[in-house]
Amino acid sequence: MLEADVAEQALNDVLRVVAFAGSQRRGSFNRALLEAARQLAPGRMTISSIEIGDLPFYNADVEAEGDPVAVVEFKAAIRAADGVIIATPEYNDGIPGVLTTAIDWGSRPPGIAPLTGKSVALMGASPSQIGTARAQLHLRQLLGHVHARTLPPPELLVAAAHERFDAELRLTHEGTRRVLSALLERFARWIERERIADAAERALASPASGRR
Ligand code: FNR
Repeated sequence: MLEADVAEQALNDVLRVVAFAGSQRRGSFNRALLEAARQLAPGRMTISSIEIGDLPFYNADVEAEGDPVAVVEFKAAIRAADGVIIATPEYNDGIPGVLTTAIDWGSRPPGIAPLTGKSVALMGASPSQIGTARAQLHLRQLLGHVHARTLPPPELLVAAAHERFDAELRLTHEGTRRVLSALLERFARWIERERIADAAERALASPASGRR
């Protein structure tokens, strides 16, 4: 296949994105942020939320006996997705334990982990004035370790979240909606670019290319 065809094909597919939040709270701003993202996604992107609350703490003994069902499903959802969106609260300047657990499982086994090489976008909401800046830095660092392809800044930091969502947890703040839309479009292009790069690399490595 010509390299131009590879690029064309990579651009034509729908982008299937899975999303999860580091909060299980019913009134969670971060879950609400993912719902807003789902509604504002570009036409060529679908976003489906998955739950991480059933994941057990990482334990190498448990892993050695075989991943529990919740872990199998979580890993499969990430593997099948073109990209992942993570909405993180900020707990004590870092990410919540439930999210650490998800990253731990998603980073196993090393080298072929579901998060390795995966395109990931971060966002976060907090009632404070810093809007999860420190939690997102923390999360970016963890994802760097597992070689995820994390969308570079600018970040989406939803500060004073209680003023940006209404009582039904709809994102009503126009400025935030614009920044969220822009991030989603940038993420779509990021996934497409990585897809083209991967397809071109595969094409160049194939015996037919004569360029091994
Ligand atoms: C918080 N919160 C918080 N906020 C922040 O901006 N920086 C922080 O370091 C912390 N630390 C922190 C620790 C713990 C244990 C809790 C429970 C809370 C407040 C937090 O951002 C707020 O509760 C958010 O609303 C949580 O996100 P969800 O559940 O709304 O998505």
